[in-house]
Amino acid sequence: MAHEVLVLQGVHAHYGRSHVLHGIDLTLGRGRLLALLGRNGAGKSTTMLTIAGLLKASAGRIALGGRAIETLVPEAIARGGLRLCPQGRRVFASLSVQENLNVAAQRRPGPRPWTSERVYELFPLLKPRVRQRAGTLSGGEQQMLAIGRALMGNPEVLLLDEPSEGLAPLIVHEVAEGIARLKQEGLSIILVEQNFALAMRLADDVVVLNTGAIVMQGSGDQVRANPESATRHLGVF
Ligand SMILES: Nc1ncnc2c1ncn2[C@@H]1O[C@H](COP(=O)(O)OP(=O)(O)O)[C@@H](O)[C@H]1O
Ligand SMILES: [Mg+2]
Repeated sequence: MAHEVLVLQGVHAHYGRSHVLHGIDLTLGRGRLLALLGRNGAGKSTTMLTIAGLLKASAGRIALGGRAIETLVPEAIARGGLRLCPQGRRVFASLSVQENLNVAAQRRPGPRPWTSERVYELFPLLKPRVRQRAGTLSGGEQQMLAIGRALMGNPEVLLLDEPSEGLAPLIVHEVAEGIARLKQEGLSIILVEQNFALAMRLADDVVVLNTGAIVMQGSGDQVRANPESATRHLGVF
């Protein structure tokens, strides 16, 4: 169906002989934000890496905009309109903020291409840092830059792996505001989060993983009405 932008069917993944994902089925609707939750080690990052093609699915199908991508290299998947902002906010430490954005740019057809100016509008805290080396930024600024780098690829689908990890509450708020704006602009997003409250502020849909399998899925409204349905799988909050 046209409103499904990303579909996983029976996806398995291994690290060597270690079988980590055990048949993941999930659907991301166009313009929706899906919160992917689960304890440490549940397989969230592995799911993200597998979608982005950085880890090959050992079985199953992954379709982006109706097109099979499970055999494509990461660069081809990115050209197809999907970008991953990986866990641990990777930026080029020795490059400036501006250079980090420049090297991530990729033209794709679309109504409103991303520019560094638009990234600075989204995250105004980056603006005074344009010429600063990324390695000297605060954790929160690096996270904003990492998201900005993903946006410079003009994705239709954005995968965000734990964007709030290790950030001070005020900065978490800034990052969350930015993600909310991306959603308003119609980007389709999978958000991996340990911060349950943050995820639930933004989620249209919720999927909970445990040991590489889906143990709960529902709408954001269902989980907001009955948080226990999700939190019982997540450990202590
Ligand atoms: N590079 C790797 N090599 C081997 N095992 C890994 C690797 N990365 C993660 N794992 C294992 O895969 C499982 C899922 O990890 P991960 O997807 O990172 O979980 P999460 O992101 O939910 O915390 C864990 O048991 C973890 O130890
Ligand atoms: Mg992870």
